[in-house]
Amino acid sequence: IPKGEELVQAILDLKKEKNAVILAHYYQPPAIQDIADFLGDSLQLARQAKDTDANMIAFCGVHFMAEAAKILNPTKKVVLPDTQAGCSLADGCSGEGLRAMRAKHPNAIIATYINCNAETKAESDIIVTSSNAETIIESLPKDRPIIFAPDKNLGRYLAKKTGRDMIFWDGSCIVHEAFSMERIAQQMASVPEAKLIAHPESESAVLDLAHFVGSTSALLNYVEKDEATVFIVATEEGILHEMRKRAPHKQLIPALVFDESCNCSECFYMKRNTMEKLYLCMKYELPEITMDEDLRLRALKPIEAMLDMSK
Ligand code: 13P
Ligand code: SF4
Repeated sequence: IPKGEELVQAILDLKKEKNAVILAHYYQPPAIQDIADFLGDSLQLARQAKDTDANMIAFCGVHFMAEAAKILNPTKKVVLPDTQAGCSLADGCSGEGLRAMRAKHPNAIIATYINCNAETKAESDIIVTSSNAETIIESLPKDRPIIFAPDKNLGRYLAKKTGRDMIFWDGSCIVHEAFSMERIAQQMASVPEAKLIAHPESESAVLDLAHFVGSTSALLNYVEKDEATVFIVATEEGILHEMRKRAPHKQLIPALVFDESCNCSECFYMKRNTMEKLYLCMKYELPEITMDEDLRLRALKPIEAMLDMSK
């Protein structure tokens, strides 16, 4: 495997040779963010995947995101640098579990966060992402309860914002759940001019302290546009790379997590992807995302319902 600048060049050569597009999430390692054709949050990347005319999509994110790309654009070859790039939310929720919830609450609408696998999507009525969840939940029929899966923290935040009657799946993000309200309060006390900004996958105790709560893209825009110059950032720290590019003069402090021996807030799954693995997956066109067509079509329906509602 080439190293350093040669590795960067080898990936660019493969991209040309194979007419590939590299899509990367903001939580990816900085070198991958820098080489990507499109950098985005889960909704932006799903749209890019749907609209690309490249032959191959090298998806640098986690498995459910690459799977969503395949669902939306099945004729393209979708490769993921590391198939172990999972997600605690997706891994903790099954289609079978959602079916059981529907049987218990037959009148409910199932709104599922995009952080789930294809089987789970196939059992859902509509998919949401963190950037469109509030608008979509607000526009669902008011006379029916909503089952929200798999993230109970995002679900509780949405229930509070929209006032809707919601039943939650008991899932959480291991990264955002690790933020410590007590330690963040200490950070705020020691840097009183800082604003705390948080992703809604964080626990409500952290969200209650925050000056601003928003999706990955909303947090980026906030740091760029807000008049404050110091921010404590309670989300995955890969985002700091793009925040620094967009707001180079602002000071960004990663929020502290419970484990005092670790000041990091990295998603271990996202960081399984490396430049070396990206090179290998483009070269050998493996590991490839494949899916049964019947499952794909069932999973596509609620994603299309989301895209129609968030134009
Ligand atoms: P976004 O939808 O904000 O990109 O978030 C994806 C994610 O995995 C958050 O932890
Ligand atoms: Fe999943 Fe959390 Fe990692 Fe996002 S940060 S991919 S929700 S485990």
